[in-house]
Amino acid sequence: TILVLDFGSQYTHLITRRLRELNIYSEMLPCTQKLAELGWKPKGVILSGGPYSVYADDAPHVDPEVFKLEVPILGICYGLQELAWHHGRNVAAGAKREYGHAALQIQRHSGTQAHVDRLFEGLQDDMEVWMSHGDKLSQMPAGFLTVATTPNAPYAGVAHADKEYYGIQFHPEVTHTPLGTQVIKNFAVNICHARQGWTMEAFVDKEIARIRKLVGDDGQVLGAVSGGVDSTVAAKLMHEAIGDRFHAVMVDNGLLRRDEAAQVKATLTKGLNVNLTVVDASAKFLALLKDVADPEQKRKIIGNTFIDIFEAEATKIAKAAENSPRAGPINFFLQGTLYPDVIESISFKGPSATIKTHHNVGGLPEKMQLQLIEPLRELFKDEVRAMGTNLGIPSELVWRHPFPGPGLAIRIIGSVTPEKVRVVQAADQIFIEEIRAAGLYRAISQAFAALMEGKAVGVVGDQRLHGWIIALRAVVTTDFMTADAFEFGGEFLKRVKNRIGNEVEGVARVLYEITSKPPATIEFE
Ligand code: XMP
Repeated sequence: TILVLDFGSQYTHLITRRLRELNIYSEMLPCTQKLAELGWKPKGVILSGGPYSVYADDAPHVDPEVFKLEVPILGICYGLQELAWHHGRNVAAGAKREYGHAALQIQRHSGTQAHVDRLFEGLQDDMEVWMSHGDKLSQMPAGFLTVATTPNAPYAGVAHADKEYYGIQFHPEVTHTPLGTQVIKNFAVNICHARQGWTMEAFVDKEIARIRKLVGDDGQVLGAVSGGVDSTVAAKLMHEAIGDRFHAVMVDNGLLRRDEAAQVKATLTKGLNVNLTVVDASAKFLALLKDVADPEQKRKIIGNTFIDIFEAEATKIAKAAENSPRAGPINFFLQGTLYPDVIESISFKGPSATIKTHHNVGGLPEKMQLQLIEPLRELFKDEVRAMGTNLGIPSELVWRHPFPGPGLAIRIIGSVTPEKVRVVQAADQIFIEEIRAAGLYRAISQAFAALMEGKAVGVVGDQRLHGWIIALRAVVTTDFMTADAFEFGGEFLKRVKNRIGNEVEGVARVLYEITSKPPATIEFE
């Protein structure tokens, strides 16, 4: 195991991710972690970057016991300053901030000093790196040698002459340092001899063990599922850990994709054995949305109604649980939070995770005094997919495009009616079916049909039709913050337009939306 001590850099989690990609197990802990309380001995320690200056009075510092472990240490950015600070303290701070690409020049040593170059083994003498720091070393700490420089940082890489201590000013964990993973591998594998046997299977086993220990022998857990990959993977993991003591609830708001509620139910219960209750509240949602045209108003109504219904169901389940002879009360609430949802990393000031509001189920956990359980919080989306595959979740579900919580209500511009829901569901189904048939589903990040406000004139047979306007949207994006419209070639869009025209009653026009994000958003509302 590699111990990653976090000084609060926005990149620290990427260090653990790179290690996982190398099949190396690591644990990330706050930089102030007391070594005596650790309970295990790491094979090596990585000190992360951080927003502080080592010279500040309130600067965080590692437990000095780290240096008595006699294991290799790699300091990255602030971690390098920290390493230097512990080896002399009188190194001066650099005044100039540096942010962006830099050309790193590696300096090779020979003879008895050759071992200090091990961090850059197998790499060319120059490489592109990413810098992001205020302070830099302006004097060599005692006992160290220079192993790399940049035009702006004469000590961009240092290594101790006798001990296995390395420090680098650049960030090897970001993709802007293209060969950074090799540097991390050199440290973890060649220098620390960490085992590369860590797999997703092992991660799942460890997480299951952690959940069992946390929940105890009779604790019970409640959670909401939406049919999306995150909540499904989290639910399946809970089921593997504690069986029917995990209670999943899905609220069918009548604004899901066509047949989705039934499909999710079948997959989760029959396929994955998850203890699931589906509450059909379509009529209630549609009644409350009648004549509501404002998008934010729709979101509010849907969010609040969801919470009311979920809470009522949760109360029922909790009552039943109280009377269950085999298990104790419900004391946990499952949340499928992923790493990118955890806005701030765990800092030395203590965990400060903030969850995006649409992932939240209101104040329910506090109200019912439930403790949060977040088994996916260290993972990125692609890792959640890998976990889903590992847990036997069908690939259509694992690779499913995201779907917004307010559902089709924000894909129907203006007021929502049952007729409009029917039309947009039918058009969407055809569009997605054709995308799958053309083998384009995974190349597109998100695709859907939306219903425009108002009607347009068309002709069907000899008859004039005053019908619906459908807009199709397909985008490509990695982070959903920016996106480009997907360019369909050949006859694809014509084929979809023909099918929608023929098969969905009442549609007069089919449009394809080409605006990128920004200036548009992905959804229409
Ligand atoms: P926008 O439209 O903001 O969408 O470009 C970015 C991503 O977020 C999804 N989205 C939502 N998801 N509740 C959700 O759960 C919402 O209110 C909501 N609005 C947008 C959208 O589908 C896309 O993936």
